[in-house]
Amino acid sequence: MWLGRKYAEAFNVKDAEYLSIVEDLLILEGVKQMDKHIQHSDITTLEHTLCVSFIAFCVCKKLGLDYRAAARAGLLHDLVYYDWHEADPAHKYHGYRHPLFAVQNARALTELSEKDVDIIIRHMWPLTPMPPRYKEAWVVNFVDKYCATKETLRKYKKNPVNYRNE
Ligand SMILES: [Fe+2]
Ligand SMILES: [Fe+2]
Repeated sequence: MWLGRKYAEAFNVKDAEYLSIVEDLLILEGVKQMDKHIQHSDITTLEHTLCVSFIAFCVCKKLGLDYRAAARAGLLHDLVYYDWHEADPAHKYHGYRHPLFAVQNARALTELSEKDVDIIIRHMWPLTPMPPRYKEAWVVNFVDKYCATKETLRKYKKNPVNYRNE
């Protein structure tokens, strides 16, 4: 538990309630592996999913929604064990296929509710055809786009502030 908490705090996520919800996931090797791959600009997949998970947790808490599901499924929504930038035929159509890979990988690590699956598998809508069914999945869908945009635009900044300390 302690290791997971320390790991999140390294990325400046210090909310005690949030950490208590995700810390059993953060200590898993599969989750830690996301820190080995770049998602956008110089931001790793783990940093990206922590951003999505934490902001979705805050938004859902404010709106009286299931913030636990948003935090946990948000952290797992891009759980794939490869760098999608690498030219490899196995990564073809990554944008369309990775939500399903993430569900399969997440299922191997932890139990997923129907809502968790919806959050993960619909996070790429409208690129993938089926829209989210749960409100929490809509929140994660929008927050993912917000974080992805912020991270992608970062490479155009002259002296980007360290994302980890923002
Ligand atoms: Fe994704
Ligand atoms: Fe994402």
